[in-house]
Amino acid sequence: MSINSFIKGNSKLTALLGYPVSHSISPQIHNHAFEQLNLPYVYIPFAVPPPNLYSAIYALRNSTFTGANVTIPHKSAVVPYCDRISALSQATGTVNTLYFEDGLLCGTTTDSIGFKRSIEQMGASFQGSHIVILGNGGTARTLAIALALEQPIASLVIAGRNPAKIRTLADEVLKVSGFNAEYVAFNDSQLEAVMSRCTILVNTTSVGMYPDIDSTPIGKKHFHQGTVVFDVIYNPRETRFLREAREAGCRTQNGLKMLLYQGLASSKLWTGVEVPEELFPIDDLEKLILK
Ligand SMILES: NC(=O)c1ccc[n+]([C@@H]2O[C@H](COP(=O)([O-])OP(=O)(O)OC[C@H]3O[C@@H](n4cnc5c(N)ncnc54)[C@H](OP(=O)(O)O)[C@@H]3O)[C@@H](O)[C@H]2O)c1
Repeated sequence: MSINSFIKGNSKLTALLGYPVSHSISPQIHNHAFEQLNLPYVYIPFAVPPPNLYSAIYALRNSTFTGANVTIPHKSAVVPYCDRISALSQATGTVNTLYFEDGLLCGTTTDSIGFKRSIEQMGASFQGSHIVILGNGGTARTLAIALALEQPIASLVIAGRNPAKIRTLADEVLKVSGFNAEYVAFNDSQLEAVMSRCTILVNTTSVGMYPDIDSTPIGKKHFHQGTVVFDVIYNPRETRFLREAREAGCRTQNGLKMLLYQGLASSKLWTGVEVPEELFPIDDLEKLILK
């Protein structure tokens, strides 16, 4: 008999802190990488109700944890518990990755790394691009601020259904980055002109996500041939938004690679090891999500 497991007594712990976490494929992604690369780490899902976040962070600090991912609803709430946060997290007010450095609990966000790598892998460039972000929630905020701070874009427009919320986000982008983001409501006649000059269009709304698969945030008349169109949603594989964009001749991509790349960027902070993307055939990832 051979008794073996990749979890050993000296395994270092990493975790996902969220609520709920049962839908997440991050445990499969990280544990697959650790096992394939023979790294002495394990990744466990922690369902942490909001009042228990402090206790979870206390456990993280006082045991053999090397780090963690943070997801809904804790991405903002975790910020005050960090000893040090990255400049990007200071600007976005969100943390999706915790790691230790010099004994200090550090927080940063890798969501925008995943997004930027996905766009660049499509062969697109941010240089001089005209970006339109649909939505004004947490993901929109992180991506808008990261783009405004870090990328050589020409223009950035926040579009959404609620005029007060899109204006607030545009104001915040200006405040933290100095970049003058514009905003337009979905029902504003200016939307057509904004979309006609858009080169990279990003849906960050949850519209069209399973099971609401017949919905789409904007009408298909707004798509123009050649535009790079990205949807952060990855279930279904092709949202109605992406299908209509593809049919109009746009280059399209769903959010699955963004999910993978942000995870690999987190993992590098814990282990120091660059995990090769080839360990994760996209068909295998889709099977995990779409089962
Ligand atoms: N691929 C990845 O790695 C990745 C990473 C992060 C998030 N995501 C996905 O991104 C999506 C958004 O996440 P989030 O954390 O940003 O959520 P959030 O903070 O709740 O924001 C949701 C956004 O969707 C908009 N929205 C919701 N229903 C709408 C409707 N019927 N019509 C128009 N707009 C509507 C909201 O607008 P209002 O403010 O007007 O309600 C808001 O702007 C989710 O599907 C999530 O799974 C993917």
